[in-house]
Amino acid sequence: GLGLAALGAAGCGSAPVRTARSTVGQVDFRHALHIPPLAEPTRVQGDDGARLTFDLAAQEGRAHIVDQGETRTWGINGDHLGPTLRARRGDTVIVRFTNGLSETTTLHWHGMHLPAEADGGPHQMVEPGESWEPSWRIAQPAATLWYHPHPHGETEAHVHRGIAGLFLLDDDEEEALDLPREYGVDDIPVIVQDRTFDAQGQLVETSHRNNGMLGETVLVNGTADPVLEVSAERTRLRILNGSGARSYAFGFEDGRTFAMIASDGGLLPAPVRMERIMLTPGERAEILVDMEPAEEVVLRSFPQDLGLTRGMADSTGSGDELDIMLLRAAQTLRPASALPSILARLEALEETAASTVRGFELRTNRINGRSMDRGRIDEVVTAGTTEIWEVWNDHGQPHNVHIHDVQFQILSVGAEPPPPELAGWKDTVYLPPHERVRLIMRFSDYTSTEIPYMYHCHLLWHEDQGMMGQFVVVAPGEEDDVDVAPRLGD
Ligand code: C2O
Ligand code: CU
Repeated sequence: GLGLAALGAAGCGSAPVRTARSTVGQVDFRHALHIPPLAEPTRVQGDDGARLTFDLAAQEGRAHIVDQGETRTWGINGDHLGPTLRARRGDTVIVRFTNGLSETTTLHWHGMHLPAEADGGPHQMVEPGESWEPSWRIAQPAATLWYHPHPHGETEAHVHRGIAGLFLLDDDEEEALDLPREYGVDDIPVIVQDRTFDAQGQLVETSHRNNGMLGETVLVNGTADPVLEVSAERTRLRILNGSGARSYAFGFEDGRTFAMIASDGGLLPAPVRMERIMLTPGERAEILVDMEPAEEVVLRSFPQDLGLTRGMADSTGSGDELDIMLLRAAQTLRPASALPSILARLEALEETAASTVRGFELRTNRINGRSMDRGRIDEVVTAGTTEIWEVWNDHGQPHNVHIHDVQFQILSVGAEPPPPELAGWKDTVYLPPHERVRLIMRFSDYTSTEIPYMYHCHLLWHEDQGMMGQFVVVAPGEEDDVDVAPRLGD
């Protein structure tokens, strides 16, 4: 723990504005970074890919995280967090999920293209003691995806207690590149989550501000004060902002640059040299960082680079300058080869191909004036079509937007085309206050007139408060079979 002053008065929506704080230079990095184990599925090789069966059990546990005492946590196949799942494009994945918790929950595959009944959103609730067995075929590029609970109204709490993990996808295109890919050695999961612990070491769930729970201690893969022992000249960090409300602008204390190679949905067309990468809740970035033998450098969040004004930054904790993790290089390092100059061929979705443009206005926990209702379908999409979604943050608070089932491309942020780090496949994107973001996406094969997918703000408290809507993808000609809610004002 950091032993910092408390956040001040807590309580939903009523906390006074707190000034930004800093942990720079105050973190005593002393715990070896935990690397979530790779899940070991049973594997049956077929002609067109393997069938992988993963057994996952959510359970209550205890973890030694801070000095104050053992923390009561939730985890999957372990006490805290979950294993890393891994599959190749073309594989069929079967998950046998058992809920060993005392509360009803779900398990959602964030970023995955899959049938709605396998999505693990609020329509696939799993009661305590019950099981759920989704299956789907991996039909998308290599990427760093993740999984987390999605029970309506309880997502923030369930993620906060510790249910989350990575889901890595591999494919031939990524594997042909000379990139670090030895899991836990030079290819490192970095799940960043902020938590507050009480004097007994228990998680504090009540430190709500307008945008959700903010923690005083930053954990990486569940480790407080983490140290990553670096064994290669070039290390790949797969960074997930797994926090509920906090946004980060990641960079290194000495200002060294890194190469960003992938965003939410997979490889960028080419590496992008950067000094900072901003990730809002749910977003991922894969970066390559180079180190010299015996060198140390701190991964830090630089709030001044988030481009938020002071009050806004403070309300999402994004005004805080935080030391995240120490990287400590060994005396001898595995040599790095040249960085590939081209990573992936990205088929750009053309605006002219879009058959539908939909508008979404986010404001005070509502989308288009409506609060989430599991019994209401908000949008009907035709399978096989390309659509443009114009999302408008009509609000002085930051939000983001996440869409299930698809990876999208960003056409514009405000009046500008996306910067290179936002020019690849994305499933979650930051919505600056009073800004419009235009997204283009293609909906493919999985259809259902009844089971919807979600779109929502991924600040988990906002999502829980109803900033979420539902869409179905239907076969051409079935649009009228869906009882869709009229738009307000229609
Ligand atoms: Cu990561 Cu609908 O969620
Ligand atoms: Cu929001």
